[in-house]
Amino acid sequence: MNYTQKMLRDDALRGKNIVVTGGGSGLGKTMTKYFLELGAQVAITSRNLKKLETTVEELEKETGGECFAIQCDVRNYDEVEKMRDEAISKMGSVDVLLNNAAGNFISPTERLSSNAFDTIIDIVLKGTKNCTLAFGKHWIDQKENNKTVLNIVTTYAWTGSAYVVPSATAKAGVLAMTRSLAVEWAKYGIRFNAIAPGPFPTKGAWDRLLPGDLKDKFDLAKKVPLQRVGEHQELANLAAYLVSDFSTYVNGEVITIDGGEWLKGAGQFNLLEAIPEELWDQLEQMIKAKKNA
Ligand code: HXC
Ligand code: NAP
Repeated sequence: MNYTQKMLRDDALRGKNIVVTGGGSGLGKTMTKYFLELGAQVAITSRNLKKLETTVEELEKETGGECFAIQCDVRNYDEVEKMRDEAISKMGSVDVLLNNAAGNFISPTERLSSNAFDTIIDIVLKGTKNCTLAFGKHWIDQKENNKTVLNIVTTYAWTGSAYVVPSATAKAGVLAMTRSLAVEWAKYGIRFNAIAPGPFPTKGAWDRLLPGDLKDKFDLAKKVPLQRVGEHQELANLAAYLVSDFSTYVNGEVITIDGGEWLKGAGQFNLLEAIPEELWDQLEQMIKAKKNA
């Protein structure tokens, strides 16, 4: 057994109907594939219908599962309500909302137009709000329970990060929403959790965060104590657990899956890792010599 393998038992998600925003590419696609393999029906949604349809065709062939493509720009509440109604009509009901859609790019903040900042906030924070409100209101009105919302954030939701300020601002809001509604809507049988991934290479993220030769100049694996980037299946395993009934007592949690990356940046003396082994003898002597000075 290792981390590239599938974790849950067959049929762990049988009977679950799942909506994955941004499910046509990257991590959304990987999670969708695993949900289908575990027996769920999945509706994937994003702006680009052609891409979604290609993904549906590919994943249905690979998994034998049932997957639906629904076009929706999460920034527009009317479109989100339509998407919700279409997902319900195609799958019968929806048990899980996975807020995965995002927009992001690197830029010094002073170079951003007001519209550029808004664009990211609108996709990430407003989009997550739109989907959460549309599905949540429906579940509450219909008195449906055993529902779960899983939000994909990042570790800079709490550390902040230079050069991706709109994304950091928006993800922090999503995290606050996750924790707030985990308490407020528990009485309706709706759970909220979040995953904060470290670097998991995808075309969408890498083209916008590490364009050109930045990929080679900034090897993200070097920032990670475990010295590697994430494998998509590791994230899919965690997501599948969090949307399954095995995790029904997990509520209001954000689970970091980053090989220790953010803590490496945070610990005051973590940079002492650069000190060679042989120097530690000298340093120890110097420190001890000060004791009675
Ligand atoms: C400065 C930029 C810009 C850039 C766009 N803009 N790119 N400003 N630097 N590189 C400005 C535009 O000039 C415009 O402002 C405004 O932003 C909106 O741009 P549009 O292209 O009109 O927007 P839209 O077509 O809606 O596209 C949204 C997008 C695009 C976010 C800009 O990149 C996109 O579609 N992204 C979706 C996928 C994605 O981003 N995936 C990565 C997620 S990775 P003006 O003022 O000119 O009108 C992620 C990982 C986090 O979140 C952690 C990793 C470790
Ligand atoms: P990705 O492939 O670019 O995924 C983003 C998805 O969001 C795309 O499928 C895109 O589809 C969709 N989307 C963008 N704007 C939308 C809108 N307005 N309405 C509906 N859908 C929209 O990137 P990814 O790396 O897989 O990212 C997935 C999630 O993981 C994001 O939440 C991201 O912040 C998070 N994350 C990723 C990493 C990483 O290392 N990859 C690390 C931390 C967090 P369309 O273009 O078709 O709309």
